[in-house]
Amino acid sequence: MIVVTGGAGFIGANFVLDWIAAAGTPVVNVDKLTYAGNPANLAPLKGDARYVFAHGDINDRGLVAGLLQRHQPYAIVHFAAESHVDRSIHGPGEFVQTNVVGTFSLLEEARAYWNTLAEPAKGRFRFLHVSTDEVYGSLGSNDPAFSETTAYAPNSPYAASKAGSDHLVRAYHHTYGLPTITTNCSNNYGPLQFPEKLIPLIILNALNGKPLPVYGDGKNVRDWLYVGDHCAGIRAALAQGRLGETYNIGGNSEKTNLEVVHAVCAILDELHPAGAPHAKLITFVKDRPGHDRRYAIDAAKIKRELGWEPRERFESGLRKTVEWYLAHGEWVRGVTSGAYRQWIASNYAAR
Ligand code: NAD
Ligand code: TYD
Repeated sequence: MIVVTGGAGFIGANFVLDWIAAAGTPVVNVDKLTYAGNPANLAPLKGDARYVFAHGDINDRGLVAGLLQRHQPYAIVHFAAESHVDRSIHGPGEFVQTNVVGTFSLLEEARAYWNTLAEPAKGRFRFLHVSTDEVYGSLGSNDPAFSETTAYAPNSPYAASKAGSDHLVRAYHHTYGLPTITTNCSNNYGPLQFPEKLIPLIILNALNGKPLPVYGDGKNVRDWLYVGDHCAGIRAALAQGRLGETYNIGGNSEKTNLEVVHAVCAILDELHPAGAPHAKLITFVKDRPGHDRRYAIDAAKIKRELGWEPRERFESGLRKTVEWYLAHGEWVRGVTSGAYRQWIASNYAAR
């Protein structure tokens, strides 16, 4: 049995589905079901005895303690977070509450539980913390990619809150010996991503003939990783990662935002022609404040130590992703109802 937090979100749900398909061992998913948490993401597990859902907040110490005692997991894989940079600019408080205080609460309960274990369960236990490359800040165009020893320099409230959580995880290993592993991954894309993030937002706006908002000059660079590859990297780190270590996970796939948007448009022109090329909808809008210029990941350590490397190429992963959104109209309708429309109105009205 493992405990996953935030398993109803984009990466967490992909992880739970892949985990049960690959490992077959049961999962308890603790999720608060914020706007980003969607039980429909885990619909394929309905009635499956290997999946247990616990609706709740990672800040609820009693709930977490009870789950750990009852299920005696050999690992916690911690995804739960507020995850969208633009939302962190509009309202940073929730980011501190979930990402920093929530991770602290979870670490405290994990430590208390781990201390009750006897060998060999104690030695086997792992706390795997899922984090981001955004903690390293922004690169210039000729800078080397982020490695695990790059100094932290978070620039958004989101990145700062994730950096804070990474530091707490590090300290719990160093001070208390809690067997932690942290992964820092680049931008994910793939099925089940909430359409506030660039790729699904562009797919859905293009399908609806709406403007495709590109912040600033569109030349900001991100490294893109297919979500299934991220899940495989987390599984590798959980199985064989060295305790107290951090592993960078990336896709070797740096793209400007304009390149990404054009690539989505080209796939839609082929799969869902609209008369005029979808790229005609591209609209440059006011930039995000403090917008990091470039992220890039040096994933040599995880390849060398754990044999992990990305399998999906950006072009094929993006095509699969577009096909998934085209085939899942009901899921899309479910997540683009009231609250989503309010977010789109508040984020884009002033741009
Ligand atoms: P997401 O926003 O899609 O999902 C977050 C999930 O956490 C949701 O199900 C939500 O309901 C849940 N949650 C939020 N607050 C909670 C709380 N207090 N208690 C319990 N559950 C809570 O996020 P995602 O994109 O799937 O990201 C998952 C993790 O991976 C995050 O920690 C994020 O920082 C990290 N990450 C994301 C990316 C990316 O590109 N999306 C890249 C690298 C790292
Ligand atoms: P996003 O998906 O929000 O991820 P992150 O900010 O965590 O990297 O954004 C990816 C890139 O796309 C980022 O440089 C901001 C840009 N972007 C746009 O140009 N337009 C948009 O509407 C959104 C949501 C993002």
